[in-house]
Amino acid sequence: MEAGVYIQASCGGEGVCGKCKVLIEKGEVESFRGPKISAEEFGQGLRQACQTRILSDLEVRIPVESELDKRFIARTRERVVAGRKVSHQELESLVLGWCFSPALRKQYVEMEPPTLKDNRSDLSRLLLALKKLYGLEGISVDSRLLKNLPFILREAEWRVTATMVQTRMESQLGEYQLRGSRRTKLIQLEAGDTTKEHYSIVLDIGTTSVWGQLLDLNSRQTLAEASDYNPQIRYGDDVISRIVYSQKPGGLKKLQESVVGTINGIVRELAAKSKIDLARVSHMTAAGNTIMTHLLLGLDPKYIRESPYTPVANFIPPVRAEEVGLEVGEHVHLYTFPSVASYVGGDIVSGILGSGIYQRKPLTLYIDIGTNGEIVIGNSEWMVTAACSAGPAFEGGGIKHGMRATLGAVEDFRLNPVTFEPMLLTIGMVKPKGICGSGLINMVAEFLEAGVISPKGKFNVDLPTPRIRQGSDGMEYVLAYGEDAAIGADIVVTEVDIENLIRAKAAMYAGYVTLLQSVGLAIGNLEQVVIAGAFGSFIDVERAIAIGLLPELPLDRFLFIGNGSLLGARLISFCNEMLDDGERICRMMTNVELSESPSFMDNYVAAMFLPHTNLEEFPGVRARLAERKEIFTTETQRAQR
Ligand code: FES
Repeated sequence: MEAGVYIQASCGGEGVCGKCKVLIEKGEVESFRGPKISAEEFGQGLRQACQTRILSDLEVRIPVESELDKRFIARTRERVVAGRKVSHQELESLVLGWCFSPALRKQYVEMEPPTLKDNRSDLSRLLLALKKLYGLEGISVDSRLLKNLPFILREAEWRVTATMVQTRMESQLGEYQLRGSRRTKLIQLEAGDTTKEHYSIVLDIGTTSVWGQLLDLNSRQTLAEASDYNPQIRYGDDVISRIVYSQKPGGLKKLQESVVGTINGIVRELAAKSKIDLARVSHMTAAGNTIMTHLLLGLDPKYIRESPYTPVANFIPPVRAEEVGLEVGEHVHLYTFPSVASYVGGDIVSGILGSGIYQRKPLTLYIDIGTNGEIVIGNSEWMVTAACSAGPAFEGGGIKHGMRATLGAVEDFRLNPVTFEPMLLTIGMVKPKGICGSGLINMVAEFLEAGVISPKGKFNVDLPTPRIRQGSDGMEYVLAYGEDAAIGADIVVTEVDIENLIRAKAAMYAGYVTLLQSVGLAIGNLEQVVIAGAFGSFIDVERAIAIGLLPELPLDRFLFIGNGSLLGARLISFCNEMLDDGERICRMMTNVELSESPSFMDNYVAAMFLPHTNLEEFPGVRARLAERKEIFTTETQRAQR
């Protein structure tokens, strides 16, 4: 870690995931065999990095399956699946009635120098000029500006550019006013006319990755985009392991510094890509789940994990970006999206804002599928929301050969229904290294439809293929034999993997149904399904329906919006009025704690089948399975003859 080498560490060093295996080639380590290392691997020099104490200088080889490759983190979907994906501009038009009116404005001012007859103060002179030229009144001033004010004005020969922000008043108690009471605040002064260079940065702080966009506040264009892994993944894959780590001595500081370091790298990359001077960036907006927001700002998330699950704050006033450690001008403030509850964060609020659901009548299901799946159901009149802990299977966690969606991950899969031989498609078109979440969904859907597995996820051992065999973890299917795999060993999918996927999809599906039931509705009432998030954009809708992850609805009701957090953050940067909408969304949402809901468990158990115990909810899948079964039986019999 200290050398900046990324390796997989799904469990955050608890020793239970076995993803952090490394090969000690030279040097001495404590002779301890971690729980996930076989005797044979131990003999070869393999160790679980997180369980190994270093006793001397070492030479360590990182096996290909333990590497974390960031080359494919920023890939965007080119393949079109069922449903539709909309363009950048179409996306922005999902929100009704927004206009281009950024909170930040720059004005160029020329003033007469002071004389003995007119020796008003420098600040009065500047404010008077702003009033005369632009009709701006009642401007407050950032006190930090005063120190350098006289020097900037004189060096610039009284020709300067003033940057002002529309900000909310602070109440006498020092609390942040959420509604109304805006005023203009002067936050920066630059020599000469810099009005043509006016930028802001928006960020999506995801649990797995961090994304940034640089926006031109004059032309309304997105100038550059950059992304990286959230370096906190080395302390655990999910938000709970991050909270646990934050409670260790110095843990919170490490988590905060690591994500800030990555954001600074992204900011530099954005500036380099768009060839702009970072000094011209005036504002930053970040959307993240509640825990990511806490960690970014250095707030202790301790009580989020303990019943009754309270965050430090849902509405957090803007903070000075440099105080958080961000390497931008001292005048830059960072606005973080408000959250609804401990596990329903600003990323969802931002996505709801960006997708315009809160403005429209159709009953919509909004989902961000992931380890911490977030669900919203509602329309312009009401919204209910819940977070459901689906587990890490969608990110390849808890899967024997699971991995993130990066180089070498099997992401698509077809099965010859007669020979049961696989056809694999990997990210980067290289030899397979493991299986990512979307690949596993496709695989299980194919297995089910070809009768390779039962609705319970058990392999049909009577099929005439050597690929189904008994493995060390039970029955398994060999996706790639060692000679065809990048890891030099067989890549398999096991019944335990399939069971983990069934659990994850059951949690999501039970989440939708429970939320709908809480308002007296059912799946059939849904008029639209909006899928957000990086993982969501790579889902094949038909196959996700086939396994019961998504509800069976006409395909044209599905809409992919990609990164909902960035979309909402961009809109807020471009339109100051949208800030009120973001906060209105938070107040509109009623959070349902699924763990407290008595019907959630029943719905979960009912969904622990492929696609579901109640096939009435999946009539199309049922018909297809029945039809395929007939064809396969006939074809297999013919092939055997
Ligand atoms: S076993 Fe080492 S990080 Fe999980």
